[in-house]
Amino acid sequence: MSKEDLNMEVNELAVKEILDELNVATKNVAKNLENEMLRKMGSNEKYNCFYHAPTVILVSGKDEERSKVMDCSAATQNMLIAAESLNIGSCWINRCKEMFELEKGQEYLRKWHLEDYVGIGCCILGYVEKTLPEKKILENRIIQG
Ligand SMILES: Cc1cc2nc3c(=O)[nH]c(=O)nc-3n(C[C@H](O)[C@H](O)[C@H](O)COP(=O)(O)O)c2cc1C
Repeated sequence: MSKEDLNMEVNELAVKEILDELNVATKNVAKNLENEMLRKMGSNEKYNCFYHAPTVILVSGKDEERSKVMDCSAATQNMLIAAESLNIGSCWINRCKEMFELEKGQEYLRKWHLEDYVGIGCCILGYVEKTLPEKKILENRIIQG
């Protein structure tokens, strides 16, 4: 194994550790939310809010920016479309939003020098193991004047 390969493996392990920690923190927050579906997800041992994806992009906006939610949402959607065009699997993950407002999430934002930023959402990326069933396009969804 070359030094570069070893460094990559160490990095992958470090990233996995961070994502595992963020997953646990997200689920702990979800357990106490009002929404029943989220509470169930938080208590489900098998559930991983990032679906074990190897790459998670945190999309965050400067707190002082009025349009941060819209800007970050547009950026996330563009990432999903770009990923699809490259045959990379992706999913928009909002589930960790509340976690980034609390202790563990704030700790990470400080660590990443993002203390002036708000975590709006995440985009997970990875290669798809199973081909997904063809998506049925719903009819009569476009209204033309
Ligand atoms: C704003 C937004 C937030 C989402 N957050 C999550 C999430 O936290 N976890 C998740 O599994 N999927 C999340 N999704 C993905 C949806 O669950 C769903 O897979 C996606 O919108 C595709 O929907 P469709 O199957 O109706 O085309 C989110 C989607 C959007 C638009």
